[in-house]
Amino acid sequence: MINKIRAKFNELFQTGGSVYTSPGRINLIGEHTDYNGGFVFPGAIDKGMVAEIKLNGTDKIRAFALDLNELAEFGFNEEDIPAAGWAKYIFGVCREIIKRGGTIKGFDTVFAGDVPLGAGMSSSAALESTYAFALNDMLSLGIDKFELAKIGQSTEHNYVGVKCGIMDQFASVFGKKGSLMLLDCRSLEYKYYPFDPKGYKLVLLDSVVKHELASSAYNKRRESCENAAKAIRKNHSEVEFLRDATMDMLNEVKNDISAEDYIRAEYVIEEIQRVMDVCVALEKGNYETVGEKMYGTHHGMSKLYEVSCEELDFLNDIAKKCGVTGSRVMGGGFGGCTINLVKEEKYEAFIKEAFSAYKEKFGHEPKLYNVVISDGARKLF
Ligand code: GLA
Repeated sequence: MINKIRAKFNELFQTGGSVYTSPGRINLIGEHTDYNGGFVFPGAIDKGMVAEIKLNGTDKIRAFALDLNELAEFGFNEEDIPAAGWAKYIFGVCREIIKRGGTIKGFDTVFAGDVPLGAGMSSSAALESTYAFALNDMLSLGIDKFELAKIGQSTEHNYVGVKCGIMDQFASVFGKKGSLMLLDCRSLEYKYYPFDPKGYKLVLLDSVVKHELASSAYNKRRESCENAAKAIRKNHSEVEFLRDATMDMLNEVKNDISAEDYIRAEYVIEEIQRVMDVCVALEKGNYETVGEKMYGTHHGMSKLYEVSCEELDFLNDIAKKCGVTGSRVMGGGFGGCTINLVKEEKYEAFIKEAFSAYKEKFGHEPKLYNVVISDGARKLF
């Protein structure tokens, strides 16, 4: 991939630049908890985005998306917003740097990725982090790593329209080889957890479905959580986010909020507890409990948060039938992958069954990714 990027860069711009990369992520547990001030448990993976970049001495960005074979040229004033969806990520990162007082200069760039789009592995955060990290480095902007992650997040909010939390961008910037990270999404305190479950494999099965309107449905979930937190706050002023709430507090306001807001909040309160339980289990090396909690998350995401779909529920059921230790929909939902913690001796039979049963039911096979937990944003050359 790097060679292809370099060849294209040279062809388009007759020169060579620096090369940066940022990864996608997995998340062991803690889904839709980040924007509720809760905990998440992600890790960066060995798949991501790679970009070659060089300042071009103009006030324009010339960007080429190698995977799409598309060129976009745009300035970095607010009115210069490019039409291409992918270019909005690069533009947004520049705008967010400028809003924080940084000076952006024109540059040429070619990028490509091997993190599958729409699979729930955060290809968009990988793209944002690549450019935030690269520009910070090349222009010596002195922005710290937390702010780099926030630049990516604000890009999503202000230029893409997804009111996401901080998990994906945090994981992409802070990732560490061999470690998952427990992140407190309110204080942004984090801890690395070396993750090497002996005798188990962590595999992703991609349903290869991506449902329309995922971003508006995502934003709607967030609104429900905020409605519930606001109602609870009337009785308990200390409740800033659902992270601070208990089921008893939620039950006090059951009649004041919609049934939908109630079940969304119920999921989040339970999910934050599951993350805590997984931490304890991991410290004891108790992967059976980790797996149990993963199934709990799937159930909640499917029945209460309603961000699963037929295909993902099907994959989850197969996992259960094949004795997989833990399985659940990963990321925002509405399509994408399941993450599966499976004993080595059960791996082959599971994959075989998942492929054949899925194909029989949906007419195509899922995709399989064996991911390696890897480092975060960095310069390659
Ligand atoms: C998406 C968002 C994250 C997080 C997850 C769900 O990946 O970008 O901030 O909310 O969904 O856990």
